[in-house]
Amino acid sequence: MPVTIRQVGPCFAGQVSGIDMTKPLSPAEASAVHAGMDKYAVLVFHDQAIDDDQQLAFTTSLGDIEHAIGTSLRAAHEYRLPNTFADVSNLDQDNKPFAREDRRRLFAIGNRLWHSDSSFKVVPAKYSLLHARSVPAKGGNTEFAYMPAAYDALDAETKAEIEDLICEHSQIYSRRLIGFTEFTEEERARFKPVRQSLVRRHPITGRKSLYLSSHAGSIVGWPEPEALCLLRDLVEHATQREFTFAHKWRVGDLVMWDNRQTMHRARPFPAEEPRDMRRTTLMGEGPTAAQAAA
Ligand code: OGA
Ligand code: MN
Repeated sequence: MPVTIRQVGPCFAGQVSGIDMTKPLSPAEASAVHAGMDKYAVLVFHDQAIDDDQQLAFTTSLGDIEHAIGTSLRAAHEYRLPNTFADVSNLDQDNKPFAREDRRRLFAIGNRLWHSDSSFKVVPAKYSLLHARSVPAKGGNTEFAYMPAAYDALDAETKAEIEDLICEHSQIYSRRLIGFTEFTEEERARFKPVRQSLVRRHPITGRKSLYLSSHAGSIVGWPEPEALCLLRDLVEHATQREFTFAHKWRVGDLVMWDNRQTMHRARPFPAEEPRDMRRTTLMGEGPTAAQAAA
């Protein structure tokens, strides 16, 4: 079947037809998906009745997988999924929704802040592929913001000011924004900040974009209040309606986004309702900035 893509967002985001993820992806289909990702940055695939193995097979036919190791507050015996998946659900290892006050749930609520996946890793994520296995009756949309358009819309003075800035990203910084500040020594060491360029260029399209994320919590060489105010201004700018698209989930949807040119966030939903979302992730090409000497 030919792969076709129809734009569904204001300046990005496409809905794909002609892909069946229960079947192996042909080289021509893989090329069409990559080209679609470069152009639209977010692709929506409806009615994909796939299991974990099929999601993994589809993902690895597009690139190198990123493993989810030590990125959540789940202890080793609390994992529901293998580390080829990021468990984006609100479920414990017995498939029960976390209690409202559960620390693992409150940490995961950080996904409701605008972010780019794994910006807290030296080599951040390329594509994320999120598949809906069960969805709440209301709420729980995922929203996306298109960062090349947000960059283009900055005034020349701001572009010049930010051109060479380097930010530090950590999951501790994103949680600080929502008042989640209690971490063990082990967690603080595990979530040590990494450096990322604030302006990045897409390797295929050549377009510059703002590399923002809730995980960004400092700018190298800047006083903290000034850095945090600039980051907040830029996020406000980049998430104006004209740059965003909201996806309302149906079971069987797979949404794939390019973390190099988008931010995303989850929207709230009732705590007691199961929301089983499973993410596979492809690794980026390399670091966006040199790291600080140890
Ligand atoms: C993710 C994520 C948002 C959501 O999978 O990386 O942030 O709506 N998900 O669950
Ligand atoms: Mn995410």
